[in-house]
Amino acid sequence: MHIAVLMGGWSSEREVSLMSGNGVADALESRGHRVTRIDMGHDVAEKLAAAAPDVVFNALHGTPGEDGTIQGLLDLMGLTYTHSGLATSVIAIDKQLTKMVLAPHGVRMPGGHVVTSESLYLGDPLPRPYVLKPINEGSSVGVAIVTAGGNYGDPIGRDTVGPWNAFESLLAEPFIRGRELTTAVLDDRALAVTELKPKSGFYDYESKYTDGLTEHVCPANIPEEIAAACLDMALKAHRVLGCKGTSRADFRWDDERGVDGLYLLEVNTQPGMTPLSLVPEQARFIGMDYASLCEAIVREALA
Ligand code: DAL
Ligand code: MG
Repeated sequence: MHIAVLMGGWSSEREVSLMSGNGVADALESRGHRVTRIDMGHDVAEKLAAAAPDVVFNALHGTPGEDGTIQGLLDLMGLTYTHSGLATSVIAIDKQLTKMVLAPHGVRMPGGHVVTSESLYLGDPLPRPYVLKPINEGSSVGVAIVTAGGNYGDPIGRDTVGPWNAFESLLAEPFIRGRELTTAVLDDRALAVTELKPKSGFYDYESKYTDGLTEHVCPANIPEEIAAACLDMALKAHRVLGCKGTSRADFRWDDERGVDGLYLLEVNTQPGMTPLSLVPEQARFIGMDYASLCEAIVREALA
């Protein structure tokens, strides 16, 4: 089969996408497929038209790539592609829109306030501790935990709002103490629960992509009731949002509050496929190697 792997682009997750895309391309080639690697630029339509693949593997992350824009182009070009479609991508890339869609279905998520970076000059949008994050970025780009005594991530203060000026909208959410969990969905099946234990205490960009900075525990050592709730919420969110192929739901769990302390933070419709990424790790856990995972994602796109 001739597969075009779309990667790179100009989002803040360009480097992550190049790792995902090259990993996927190598794996698909190892299975005998003909692969065209496309680093997305403004000429992506011409490159896709010239390649004329049987299917496009979307290995882009962030904005653009995970936000519906490339999905709309691929729809217009009549090309079949992996992962979620236009409407799902538009909703899921926006952490606040995601809450609005999932809340009526009983998926517990932290309450969010959308703020502008300028408004931070006027003071805290929420009582500390709270989390401040760009509304539509991934890989923890721009995320800060604002605490009473100091902050993880980018600094906040009347003189130091600068780091967030790059982002149009920010989301302020109450900080949920406790543990970091994640669940992948593949082919309409929730795979497993992984606990992430970053050595720094904050699962930020560096902790995500530097080998050895985060311990991954799969399956997570948590009560059965919590694991079941993660699997259930991830699958429900995948279905309600209309995700295709694979998605990954990220959680915080306040382990002093039982199942009521479990919150879904977001759904990633273009989850990472790097050597340290979590969907490949959970696929391995169910006995599926990386190349088989890539082929399974392609198969679902063609189904
Ligand atoms: N945004 C990154 C790629 C992830 O969710 O894995
Ligand atoms: Mg994300």
